[in-house]
Amino acid sequence: MEMLYEGKAKKIFKTDNENEYMVYFKDDATAFNGIKKDEINQKGIINNKISSRVFELLESKGVKTHYIKNISDREMLVKVVDIVPLEVIVRNISAGSMCKRLGIDEGIEFEKPVFEFSYKNDELGDPLINDDHAMALKLATKEEIDYIKNQAYKINEILKEFFKKLDLKLVDFKLEFGKTPSGEIILADEVSPDTCRLWDINTNEKLDKDRFRRDLGNVIEGYKEVLNRME
Ligand code: C5P
Repeated sequence: MEMLYEGKAKKIFKTDNENEYMVYFKDDATAFNGIKKDEINQKGIINNKISSRVFELLESKGVKTHYIKNISDREMLVKVVDIVPLEVIVRNISAGSMCKRLGIDEGIEFEKPVFEFSYKNDELGDPLINDDHAMALKLATKEEIDYIKNQAYKINEILKEFFKKLDLKLVDFKLEFGKTPSGEIILADEVSPDTCRLWDINTNEKLDKDRFRRDLGNVIEGYKEVLNRME
């Protein structure tokens, strides 16, 4: 199959069906815009499983996603979309770049979710932008931005409740949306411990990519713990 794109953690292939792409989940891990790199044995398998479960859950709650089906350990069949070059971030608890940028402690629980957009652009280091920037750069229309925001809040509510039942706190996460050939905006990319911060509800133990970013050790064990609680 022809490879269309290779990203940091996934490869995208064309398929025989013009409406479908195949996503291949790699073991590669990167952080700090690619400066820190490593391979985490089995990460692709775990993230494919977790993402598939999350997409199935979201679809069952009426959220439209690119997910069609899981076809092997590392492969997922998805609908063809053009990715909207926005990283859509929702935060329930302070962590990561927000703490650094604003000089606040990690672990502050917000009364309302905090919404952020970043411009998906590696050369610029994915800068934080607002709605006006997104429209000025023609990354999305006002209607698309409003729809994406509404979907992101809805997804946050669904996932917060889902993970809570697994004794996990959904600290924050990043989503990417895509546009179908007919112009519909749907959730794309992946939802996994690479793209979400998840802490144990009782101990606040980190079970996500911060184990890799911050050299906390036992990276794959954290991802496996999330998957075990989902199964
Ligand atoms: O680093 P930061 O605190 O901005 O990350 C917020 C959330 O978005 C985290 O859950 C992180 O895993 C996710 N993220 C991502 N890909 C990026 C940047 C952030 O998945 N390029």
